[in-house]
Parts: sequence; C-alpha cells; structure tokens
Amino acid sequence: MPSITIDGKALTYEGKQTILQVALTHGVEIPHYCYHPGLSVVASCRICLAEVAQPNPKTGKLELIPKLMPTCQTPAADGMEVYVRSPKSVANQKAVMEYLLINHPLDCPVCDQAGECHLQDYSYRYGRAVSRFEDAKIKQPVKDVGPHVKLYSDRCIMCSRCVRFTREVTGTGELAVFGRGSQEQIDVFPGQPLANEMSGNVVDICPVGALLDKDFLFTQRVWFLRVTPSIDGLTASGDNLWVHHNEGRIYRVKPRTNPGVNKWWISDEIRYGWKFVHAEERLRTPRRMQYGTQVDCGWPRIYADVAENLPRIVKEKSTGSGVVSGGTPGGISGTNPGGVLAVLVSPMLASEEAYLLGKLARALDPQAVLGVGPVPVQGENKTFPGGYTILAEKAPNARGVRAALTLLGGNAPVEFADFTKLLTDKATKVAAVIVTGNYPSAWVTKELTAALARKFLVVLDTLPSEVTARADVLLPGATWLEKAGSFANHRNVHQAFAAVIPVCDGARTEGQVALDLLAACGLAAAEVYDPMKVRGQMGAAFSAAVHQPAELTLREPAMQYVAL
Ligand code: SF4
Ligand code: FES
Repeated sequence: MPSITIDGKALTYEGKQTILQVALTHGVEIPHYCYHPGLSVVASCRICLAEVAQPNPKTGKLELIPKLMPTCQTPAADGMEVYVRSPKSVANQKAVMEYLLINHPLDCPVCDQAGECHLQDYSYRYGRAVSRFEDAKIKQPVKDVGPHVKLYSDRCIMCSRCVRFTREVTGTGELAVFGRGSQEQIDVFPGQPLANEMSGNVVDICPVGALLDKDFLFTQRVWFLRVTPSIDGLTASGDNLWVHHNEGRIYRVKPRTNPGVNKWWISDEIRYGWKFVHAEERLRTPRRMQYGTQVDCGWPRIYADVAENLPRIVKEKSTGSGVVSGGTPGGISGTNPGGVLAVLVSPMLASEEAYLLGKLARALDPQAVLGVGPVPVQGENKTFPGGYTILAEKAPNARGVRAALTLLGGNAPVEFADFTKLLTDKATKVAAVIVTGNYPSAWVTKELTAALARKFLVVLDTLPSEVTARADVLLPGATWLEKAGSFANHRNVHQAFAAVIPVCDGARTEGQVALDLLAACGLAAAEVYDPMKVRGQMGAAFSAAVHQPAELTLREPAMQYVAL
C-alpha cells in the first residue's frame, strides 16, 4: 500500500487522495478553511500550505518542491514527505492567520460560534499572540440573508464554502461574492433570499461565526451543550444527526456525516422540525374515562384499568360468532375471522417498540389484528444536484414497523386503509383497539375516528387529538428524542439511535408501556425497556441488520463549566 510521511509520521492511503485527505483519514491535523469534503477544491485560503518533498521519477531521489504546496489540492504520491511544522510552513500559517484577522472584529465574547470556531482554534494553534495592525478596521454589516440564516459579514474569511454549497449541492446559487479586495463580501442577490430547503447547512460549513442560525442565535453558549447521536425521526430519510441539548432541552440539530445515507447534509425540515418535543400541549398525565368524562390518574391505576378491561373484553367477545366476510384485507379471511383486539402501530415508533406492542396484543389475543399507522406523504421526493433527496414520506419507520410486526407471525400486518375497513366491517369481532400516534402534527383521519366508534379504546400518544379526547384509557408517550431504538429508512437501512433527553415529566416510552402492560396483565415479568435486549428477542437476523454506531454513547462537551 502506498504511503506518505507527514512530519515524520508514515501514513498509508488507497486510491487517489490529496495530502490533506490522507492526513484527515488518519486524524492528523493540517489547518484548513476552504476545503470541505463535500465541495469542490478551490485552494483559496492558503492556510493548508506545507513544504513537500517527493521522489524524482527518474532518479528516485527525494527532491524538495521549491514553493509551498496546497495540501488540499496536491495529490499524495508514494514516498512523499510533507512538513507541516517546518519553519517555512509555520511562517505561512502565521501570515495567513494575521491576514485573516486584520479586519476581523475579534468579538468572540458575543459571537455564537465561540467555542466551535476554526478561526478561534487556529488563532491559538497557528496564529500570532499579538496583532501588528494599527489602522482602523473595515466594518461590514450584519445581513438577514434568509429565513433561517444571518450573515455577520465582518467575521467572514472568504473561504467561499457557502457559495460553493449553493452552487454545487442545492444548485440554487443564492449566495455570491460581491466586491473586490478588502471590500469583498458574501451576499444574496436583491429579492432572492437564501431560502432553499437545505439552507441551514451553510451555517454548519461556515468555519467561522459569519453565517449563523437565527433559531439558535444567543440561546446557549456551545460549551454548555451535550451532543448525542440520533437519526431523523420526522421523515423516511434515516439521516444521521447530532442533537445538541442541555438540561433536558434540545437547542439544535446538526447533520452527522454518513457517506452511505445523508453524506454531510440534512434538510431544514429535519433541522428545525423537532420543536413539538417541547410543545406546551404535550400529554403528560395518564387519563381514564369515568362516567363519560376523562379524568387524570396515576400510572398504577391506568395499568390496572387496562389489565382489568382488555383481557375481559377479549374473553367475552372471543366466544361470539362474528366472522369477517370473505376477501377482508390483510390476509384475514372468512376462514380466519381475526381477533377481538386490534393494535395500530404508528410508523413514528421504533421497531423494538412495534415488536413489543405486537407481542402484547398477541399475548392478550392470539388472533389480534396488527395494523400499521398512516404513513404521511407530502408531494414528491426532491433530489438536489448534489445528490441529497428530501423525501415525500414523512414517517421514519414504516418499513421497520412492518418488519417487526411480521416477525410475530400469525395474521400479516395490515396497512392503515385496510385496518380502518376491517374495523368497520359488519362481521368484525374487534371490540378493543390500542392506537399509537406520536406524529409531530395532526394525523387522525375521519375514517379512523369512525372506525373506533363503540370500541374500548386505549391510546398512546404525545399530542392531543380527536382520538386522545375520546380514549377510554389515555397513556402519554415519548418522542423519538426521548428514547432509544432503531428505524429502517426508505432504503431499508436499519439504524439504531440513543435517547437524547429524558422523557418529559409524566410520560413514558411506548416500549416501556408495552412491557408494563404485559406485566400488569400477568403475561410477563416486569422489566425495563432495553432496545438491545428486544432486538435479541426479534432474532439474530434482525439484530445483525441494525447498524449500531460506536459513537452511540453520550458525548461530553469538550469544555466543562467550572463552578468557582
Ligand atoms: S460566510 Fe462563512 S462560509 Fe461563507 S465565505 Fe464567509 S467564512 Fe466562508
Ligand atoms: S484548505 Fe487548502 S487552500 Fe484552503
């Protein structure tokens, strides 16, 4: 395998890679601003320049290239020696840092990027301790460039990453470089704001505090934030995320690089769609129907209610003579009348939770009907020139839920339209239904409301709806950021995710509720929801299909708050 050395350290590489790419692959730092793996190489910032010696192809002798070479643009060649910390390279790094900081306002104390700023970091590591510039600095304006993004022009170092992003990835080209020399500025064209569906990514790729997220602006200092890996819980993309949070509150969501799924990007819909997690109207207390009115109660009482009613209803109605008419959807036919209990499993739930809910239903009634909740679809898939696709399917786990319910055997799971038809069929025996929701916005259809009439209704949901209002038993559930599990995306890639924040006060995860109900009904011993353990029960093939990234543990912030 070919190799190069960087400051005496031998690094192997494969295929065609630049010196900087080889260094980054091995975790060796070479300072860089304008280089980004998802964008074209322009080699304009010049901080990655280094002394390079390479073997003469004729003599095989190592020869020093007389000028400094941009490591982001120079292909690695076998036997090459790179000197990033040589006096000449270090002098260049200091000169570039001095140049970049000449007109910089040095306003780190009030800059949102402080603590995660490449300019700040490199200034410590590669810059000068003092400024030699004595003239007045050029001041540039703060601009509102789009619905999500603010531009602090005088912090910009003209790396052009944001401009290349809008040209190469979104193909929208809203941002451009205007002016020349010290008057150069990034800006949008008049009347054309940065309003594409992926605009928030420019904030992530801006190496300094020039492009900032209006939604996050001045809400938290970044060193207070904890960062936990997660998966998109709003669409079928399976996009990998970093969720930034502090003391049980989410503050922002950023993309987690996964070359096989979302590369370096996420859509604004995913970036800003988590707000319902902290909605005031979240369901927080179990409620039970008492003389036609819902009243609050505690978890032990609500579990006792379910344990008293569901087994009783199944027992009473199973002896009835109702037979589902022939041709009823979902594989339940005239010869197989289906059960008394039906469960509608939302595609917003984790696969492990779907499995436990199905297991609960089948333990109560071996003929229980298992249905997949509605899968919202908005418009059509939209693919950008850079290859990123915004999916029309607005549910994270329809495929995972189907797979989990299928693993239980028996009657095949039915899709939502068939589920409501089956419940309204004249010959149906279904008398009790467990409904799960967990959608970020209104989801209940007229067909569902009609299908649930005169049934004993157990609802597990996070936000109020017509269905939660008429539930005989209402159990407050948890959003995907409050629990662990796995989702299968639109390409059937199963990916595990961790709980980011604790479940909101009074609520419980659907997986835990399923386990508690199994225990309350005397069908299993009490246990704590553990998705790894559930995956073990779902079989070796399912377990092996789930990608469990090594980083799926809580990461501590790089800087710790020290109380004085
Ligand atoms: S705004 Fe940020 S990303 Fe854009 S050119 Fe300036 S420093 Fe680079
Ligand atoms: S990173 Fe190489 S010149 Fe900017």
